[in-house]
Amino acid sequence: MPKLASTVDGLLLPNPFVIASGPPGTNANVIGKAYDEGWGAVVCKTVSLEAEKVVNVQPRYARLRSRETGEIYGWENIELISDRPFETWLDEFKLIKDKYPDRVLIASIMEEYNQNAWHEIVGRCQETGVDAFELNMSCPHGLTERRMGSAMGEDPELLEEVCGWVMQVADRPVWVKMTPNVTRIEDPARASLRAGCQGISAINTIRSVVGVNLDTLRPEPSVEGYSTAGGYSSQAIMPIALRMCMEIATVLRDEFPGRSLSGVGGIETGRDATQFLLLGCDTVQVCTGVMKMGYRCVQTMKEQLLEFMEQHGFETLDEFKGHSLQYFTTHSDLVRRQAEARAARQAESHIRMIQADAEWDGDSFVDQSDALSRG
Ligand SMILES: Cc1cc2nc3c(=O)[nH]c(=O)nc-3n(C[C@H](O)[C@H](O)[C@H](O)COP(=O)(O)O)c2cc1C
Repeated sequence: MPKLASTVDGLLLPNPFVIASGPPGTNANVIGKAYDEGWGAVVCKTVSLEAEKVVNVQPRYARLRSRETGEIYGWENIELISDRPFETWLDEFKLIKDKYPDRVLIASIMEEYNQNAWHEIVGRCQETGVDAFELNMSCPHGLTERRMGSAMGEDPELLEEVCGWVMQVADRPVWVKMTPNVTRIEDPARASLRAGCQGISAINTIRSVVGVNLDTLRPEPSVEGYSTAGGYSSQAIMPIALRMCMEIATVLRDEFPGRSLSGVGGIETGRDATQFLLLGCDTVQVCTGVMKMGYRCVQTMKEQLLEFMEQHGFETLDEFKGHSLQYFTTHSDLVRRQAEARAARQAESHIRMIQADAEWDGDSFVDQSDALSRG
């Protein structure tokens, strides 16, 4: 029977399925529910020191559906980080760790460009017993107005400096969550790893405008008739997340061996998740999928991953982690490989068994005779 358990950055995970930061990890109740349903770990909704500065609006989601089936494939949100007081979060971190001491709880944190604030948030969360951190350097809306989130994550120099502050005080694993709203994802990933962080999570949502209502002429989601660009998630973003994970995994393999990668973006099935693992991820995270299907979806995801492992005879995740990375190359190398393969096929066809006497030719007479012979 294949094993789904693995150790990532010293954290023992019963399986690689992790709740991504967002509504599915937004208080102690739902985090407990996630553990009860069998999730391998939970990243809580992003917390900050001054929740009173966080004011959400309603509605704050807008969805895209397939024209044929009505199935939701795209999801935009303009939700901010947690609006619950930091003190409440600290109490709940303790409660969760008391009730689930063996389960992995990852605190997603975000702060302004202020060294003391980062030191304080890391230190106070550590006191509660959380197992690791994920730095939200990637939320693309709202918080950027305070130079937080993706405003930091899209600037590698700033990112390296802030990650360095965190590493001065963090005594447990730190993952950095990437914004996809950059041209070259390798640059912020390298900056975080140079600062000493153990892992990368990729990706957060993609900056988007989901649509304009043709009756009201107002963009969605419409708040008192107005909107703002939001973050796009769900199935539609998986190809972009896979590409970025492939690029980051290549950097890890070549320049930072031993660091970890957590894949996020559009994962809804065990077969989706398996593709992220094949491209080098150690874990996979799900946010919108849980909002669409509920916490129990992890059971099917685990079954589908196990089926894949059985089909290929893999006993552990390590046996296939990153396997498919070797099949990426440059376009010019594809051209070279194709030319070589065609030449080889052509050479082979020259000595193919002749079908009719008119095909005998003087130059390859011996090869043609050979091809027709046995023994
Ligand atoms: C409603 C909503 C709220 C989110 N809030 C956060 C957050 O507080 N912190 C964070 O790092 N990511 C947040 N995310 C981003 C998700 O964690 C995830 O990176 C993204 O949605 C892509 O994964 P998915 O397609 O599985 O949702 C949020 C996403 C959604 C849809």
